[in-house]
Amino acid sequence: MTIVPQMNLSREALEPYWLPFTPNRTFKANPRLFVAGKGMYYTTAEGRQVLDGMAGLWCVNAGHGQERITAAIREQAGHLDYVSSFQMSHPLAFKAAERIATLTPPGMDRVFFTNSGSEAVDTALKIARAYHRARGEAHRTMLIGRAKGYHGMGFGGLAVGGIGRQKRDFGPLLPGVAHLPHTHNREHQAFSKGQPEWGAHLADELEAMAQIYDPSTIAAVIVEPVTGSGGVLPPPKGYLEKLRAITEKYGILLIFDEVITGYGRLGAAFGSTALGVTPDIITCAKGMTNGAVPMGGVITSRKVFDGFMNGPESAIELMHGYTYSGHPLACAAALASIDVYEEQDLFARAARMASYWEEQAHSLKGEPHIVDIRNIGLLAAIEVAPKDEPMSRSAPAGNICFEAGVLLRTAGDALVLSPPLIIEESEIDRIFDTIRKAVRSLS
Ligand SMILES: Cc1ncc(COP(=O)(O)O)c(C=O)c1O
Repeated sequence: MTIVPQMNLSREALEPYWLPFTPNRTFKANPRLFVAGKGMYYTTAEGRQVLDGMAGLWCVNAGHGQERITAAIREQAGHLDYVSSFQMSHPLAFKAAERIATLTPPGMDRVFFTNSGSEAVDTALKIARAYHRARGEAHRTMLIGRAKGYHGMGFGGLAVGGIGRQKRDFGPLLPGVAHLPHTHNREHQAFSKGQPEWGAHLADELEAMAQIYDPSTIAAVIVEPVTGSGGVLPPPKGYLEKLRAITEKYGILLIFDEVITGYGRLGAAFGSTALGVTPDIITCAKGMTNGAVPMGGVITSRKVFDGFMNGPESAIELMHGYTYSGHPLACAAALASIDVYEEQDLFARAARMASYWEEQAHSLKGEPHIVDIRNIGLLAAIEVAPKDEPMSRSAPAGNICFEAGVLLRTAGDALVLSPPLIIEESEIDRIFDTIRKAVRSLS
């Protein structure tokens, strides 16, 4: 039985904390506070149980409060709280890298630790440029992202990201960045199950860009294998394969941002494996520690890593790193998370549950206001037509679901779902039934 600590926060006590990505004044007038999490459920400060349809924020893939992870963090804190990773380290960092390399596509086995997805993305972009420079191609600096892409909030990730509203307030971002078109088209793809049939040709835009900018100036292309925060957009069949072929043809590095698709979300350890396309660099975070300790990582191919190992042996090969890279508590959590994923066979479980998930998600077709349903692995988006302003139906629908005990996210006009991989069929039913009732109640 979970003991819920009493929460008596006055309005004044809420003031100092500046919440991220939140309308602070609205939130503080009606705060949404959680005090415990176990399995599929959160407990709110009022003592209500809420079904977590988002795995926290796409991260608690093995469900909340996995004892083994909690114990590993506790134990590590008792032995070694911190050691720098600059010219020293500790054994768990090597063990964590070794285990992570067993999960990745063959040949992707060099791991650089960061503390978040944003840091992983900025690190990957820097590695891409520095890699070309180390090979004597310092002129390859251009970075290509994609419309609707989300790559975190560092200046690098923001620059290659493709959501304008997130950039607007922050002045000039990185120069030398261009964007591919996004892959969503309701006219051709609405209610597709899994990867849409239509849209592989959109990757040909990269070929066009190579001609516009000259391919020898392009360092890397970064995409999420499945666009996540931009509204859950599975890649059209053949699209990622084409991106791979074009990048290979021109010596451009392909970066898959797997911060969401990593750690089982698509029914395999990484989306690259699930989708059958191997990039040169993978970024990950979130499910890496099951959300329990901040951690991110950049996984590179042997080719990329070896590209740095040519200068004098006493020279630092990559002038980059963070105070908390490879933090002992994060490494302990990363190892214990892999134990949990493997012992509970959660990646295969996600693959098995994906068809029931798809069936139930698409059972909402025909309900009022629903204009598209998208799914892949244990991800789904239910898109509702706005009444007038963007989010004028999705935001109230999300609130109605929360009041009914189901937590989901809104991404523009889409209701987005990414549950823990331990989800049961009855919980899948509950999520989609709750959404059904919510959209029926909207005017
Ligand atoms: C694809 C992707 N990349 C990067 C990030 C940024 O990760 P973080 O919030 O840990 O910095 C996210 C976060 O949602 C993400 O979805």
